[in-house]
Amino acid sequence: MRTLLAAAALIIALPAAAQTQTRQQPDVIYVPTPHEVVDDMLRLANVKKGDVLYDLGSGDGRIAIAAAKKFGIRAVGIDIDPERIREATENAKKAGVTSLVTFKQEDLFKADFKDATVITLYLLPDLNVKLRPRLWEELKPGTRIVSHQFDMGTWKPEKRLESSGRVVYFWTVPEKKKK
Ligand SMILES: C[S@@+](CC[C@H](N)C(=O)[O-])C[C@H]1O[C@@H](n2cnc3c(N)ncnc32)[C@H](O)[C@@H]1O
Repeated sequence: MRTLLAAAALIIALPAAAQTQTRQQPDVIYVPTPHEVVDDMLRLANVKKGDVLYDLGSGDGRIAIAAAKKFGIRAVGIDIDPERIREATENAKKAGVTSLVTFKQEDLFKADFKDATVITLYLLPDLNVKLRPRLWEELKPGTRIVSHQFDMGTWKPEKRLESSGRVVYFWTVPEKKKK
């Protein structure tokens, strides 16, 4: 009887344990960028008609949604947290921009963002630095990158803007070095 009970407990516990293992934890917690800083990020990135914006770690979707609403551009938000994706999708519906904005539940370190012309970030300094090689190698030269609050280590920003007590940094992806 005891063996039977133990086996039953295992059968119940195993799927839950497997789920916990496969669900990747966020590398940084969710903290939204204030709306006025979002506006300054889009301004600093010189967002214009025809751009394609990716927000890597998109939270409630406010940056992608603001870009679509204000500039009529296509925007993609990537977030690892399914709750954030649900919230962002709901917010895009409320803002009436579902034809322009897509939210994908993915790890930003594995996601495909090659077609971006603008990248927005609000992560952490070490995550920016970890992401940097992919930004350089995979994005088209001239792609603009803005980061709320955190820089990119030795990759010095071209512009720096103070916004509501925060800092926003700006870079453009350089031409590829000839091999
Ligand atoms: C500081 S919040 C920024 C949210 C939004 N970009 C903004 O500025 O309002 C960081 C977001 O990154 C997400 N995140 C953390 N690690 C991630 C990963 N490896 N892949 C995708 N998203 C991730 C978190 O779930 C969170 O929503």
